[in-house]
Amino acid sequence: MRILYVCTELFPLLKTGGLGDVSGALPPALREAGCDVRVLLPGFTAIRDGIGPSQLPHGGPIPLPPRYGPDLASHGLPPSPPLVQGTLPGSGLAAYVLDVPAFFNRPGNPYTDGRGDNAVRFGLLGWAAACLGHGLDPHWQPDVVHCNDWHTGLAPVYLRQMAMPGPPRAATVFTVHNLAYQGTFPPSAFPRLGLPDYLFGIHGIEFWGQVSFMKAGLQSADRITTVSPTYAREILDPLQGCGLDGLLRARAGVVSGILNGVDYKVWSPANDGVLAEPYDIDSLENKAKAKAELQRKLGLDLRPDAMLFGVVSRLTEQKGLNLVEAIADELVHMGGQLAVLGTGDAPLEHAFLLAAGRNPGQIAVDIGYDETLAHSIIAGADVILVPSRFEPCGLTQLYGLRYGTLPLVHRVGGLADTVVDATPQNLEAGRATGIAFDEFSAKGLRTALRRAFELRSHPRDWRQVQQAGMRQRFDWRVAADQYAALYRSIMPHAAPIA
Ligand code: ADP
Ligand code: GLC
Repeated sequence: MRILYVCTELFPLLKTGGLGDVSGALPPALREAGCDVRVLLPGFTAIRDGIGPSQLPHGGPIPLPPRYGPDLASHGLPPSPPLVQGTLPGSGLAAYVLDVPAFFNRPGNPYTDGRGDNAVRFGLLGWAAACLGHGLDPHWQPDVVHCNDWHTGLAPVYLRQMAMPGPPRAATVFTVHNLAYQGTFPPSAFPRLGLPDYLFGIHGIEFWGQVSFMKAGLQSADRITTVSPTYAREILDPLQGCGLDGLLRARAGVVSGILNGVDYKVWSPANDGVLAEPYDIDSLENKAKAKAELQRKLGLDLRPDAMLFGVVSRLTEQKGLNLVEAIADELVHMGGQLAVLGTGDAPLEHAFLLAAGRNPGQIAVDIGYDETLAHSIIAGADVILVPSRFEPCGLTQLYGLRYGTLPLVHRVGGLADTVVDATPQNLEAGRATGIAFDEFSAKGLRTALRRAFELRSHPRDWRQVQQAGMRQRFDWRVAADQYAALYRSIMPHAAPIA
């Protein structure tokens, strides 16, 4: 079974969030599950420079067809840019990279629409995926094209539109990692995508007068998945459906949730190169050293008994960190410390910096993106805070579980699916792995914090929760088997649209 996995970031080459972690780990796990996987990526500089030479016998560049697809001429680009073939470092998987420096060689966040051409540049990625799905590479045609998030949303649309001689088109899976980011563009973008006019309508890719790449993927993929079972249910509801719940309900029969996994080669305290002293479930005393090391690194007072709360996150509305900021001073008064690593919304960044200024030695805030410090915080903190307003899956709570760092989470989406609240019953049964709260407010979070302090005052219970969390396994192989079963169900011919 040949799978083309299409994504825009991939750890360790390029990562802005969880999608990068997923794309780095799932394709190799799919290979282990028996799939013949290749990856298609846009040629962002970090990706273009990071892939190795192709190991394939016919590994030269493949030009895209010179007609149809997005209008490149208006951007002064040649009509048939090449797909460079290469090899991913680490996994050794074959990759196609869309080699268009004018689109992808830019500083800063890869998704910023600085030149107003995001519709065309990510449209071109979808077009490249569709061409491969229709047999562009004579040596390798995928059975399934697996698309991820709005950037790839046009691939299933183009695949359905293309009438090409040869074998049937590949089937499509569209995975929603975050419904809130939709890739919407003004109507003037539509004529540049090379699609028939009738698709700019309610049954096509039009959404409240705009062009929506997310809607495109949801409307035309053979199967839709999202990254946890609970989020798969939540997005059918207006509250979490971001305006697309009606369409999702209409297609509910093809929507499912497959929980993300963890790459334990990257995220395990027993072999984490960032830690001076590795530790595991049987050597948890070494976790105290990771904590002291973190306190030193961040200029926090060296207080072994202070409960240290960690945050590693994009600082956006989704993540609910305004609640943490609101009670940061109280957290310190309760005897805790706070370490924040993140970047995002300027007012929130500013508010956290002010909180650190008010609480020297007790609150440390690092505004930036730092993979090494992320590992130090996940390992050194006692609690990892993930109070997200909504969370499709969430990975940091899974990393926390592995590191004996108790996740304290708002019970939504993937957080609800992965953290077992330390209620008296769950403690009694030995299955509690963290703390979960329901009321999304400063009050709700405050109550949860108090529960964390209370639990900490019973060291035996605390240790039991830590160990139960560390024993959990969220192996990618489990998810890969579920994806493989899904691919199989839509093979060899695409199922009719629901
Ligand atoms: P999302 O994808 O919504 O941002 P996830 O929890 O799925 O949330 O994944 C976030 C990933 O990004 C994790 O690997 C986390 O460690 C990482 N991360 C987030 N912010 C930072 C940061 N400022 N520095 C380093 N890593 C970060
Ligand atoms: C998104 C979601 C996050 C998820 C990640 C990987 O960024 O916000 O919840 O874990 O994608 O699927």
